[in-house]
Amino acid sequence: MGTTHKLIIGNCMEMPEIPDKSIHLVVTSPPYFNAPFDYKGLFASYEQYLGVLRNVSKELFRVMADGRIVVLNIDDMLINGTKYPIVADATKLFQEAGFNYRDRLIWKKPDGYLRISRRSGVLLQNPYPMYFYPDNLLESVIIFQKGKFDYRSISQEIREKSKVNIKEFSDKKWYTTLWEMNNVMPGSPLEKNIAAFPTELPYRAINLFAYVGETVLDPFAGSGTTMKIAKQLGRNSIGIEIKKSLASIIKKKTGFDGQETLNGEENKFEVILRKKGWIE
Ligand SMILES: C[S@@+](CC[C@H](N)C(=O)[O-])C[C@H]1O[C@@H](n2cnc3c(N)ncnc32)[C@H](O)[C@@H]1O
Repeated sequence: MGTTHKLIIGNCMEMPEIPDKSIHLVVTSPPYFNAPFDYKGLFASYEQYLGVLRNVSKELFRVMADGRIVVLNIDDMLINGTKYPIVADATKLFQEAGFNYRDRLIWKKPDGYLRISRRSGVLLQNPYPMYFYPDNLLESVIIFQKGKFDYRSISQEIREKSKVNIKEFSDKKWYTTLWEMNNVMPGSPLEKNIAAFPTELPYRAINLFAYVGETVLDPFAGSGTTMKIAKQLGRNSIGIEIKKSLASIIKKKTGFDGQETLNGEENKFEVILRKKGWIE
């Protein structure tokens, strides 16, 4: 069975191309609020940032099929000594949009990640009380659900085709709230200047929450990690990305140069460039 992949270049605060209740899973990571390296000064205020999340959560509620899941990789952000409670605020916004807050996982990066992000050095230089800023090895992955899922709506054939690999589930400890996953190395060619998440995150989420042939959406597509893994796992995908320049990266990452054939079946990739709302 071939899959289809659609990239919309535009702002995901509105999703007019996507019909109501047509999406079976969302896996996404919004930009980190004014992250010092990646998004310094991107948003004029924290209120403006939350406004984006509010609009997106409402649109996601509209496009999600009943019973389906949103996997949101997001985290609190420390800027100039103040931590912004983004996880708590995003949870509240998604609840207000109508979602049920179902779970929270913690993504733990390998200890070596500290070489990239070292805040505890302040105390090493000033070994006295009040100089402590811990190095952050963690990010949150919050899970929302739109109402109740009807397990009988899936045919036996599709259930079997979508069976979770129990060995992988056990060996890699998908079953706890602590997901240990490598981060993408800064400077990786396809993810340069994009705060990409590792393929392992959509890989787990798609295996756990979407059946073969269904459609996975990433409204903050970035380098196209979710779209790549959706295709690999026989699911359709839709990505929305505001930066037009990322279209070629996403095409490359998903392995599309026009149309291609996978296992003898055709997979299709389409780019929709909106009239406005995108940036170069
Ligand atoms: C954290 S990155 C996502 C990275 C992605 N998960 C990956 O693995 O490559 C967030 C992306 O959202 C895009 N973006 C920010 N605001 C947007 C908006 N309002 N609509 C669509 N895309 C947006 C940014 O350009 C950036 O590429």
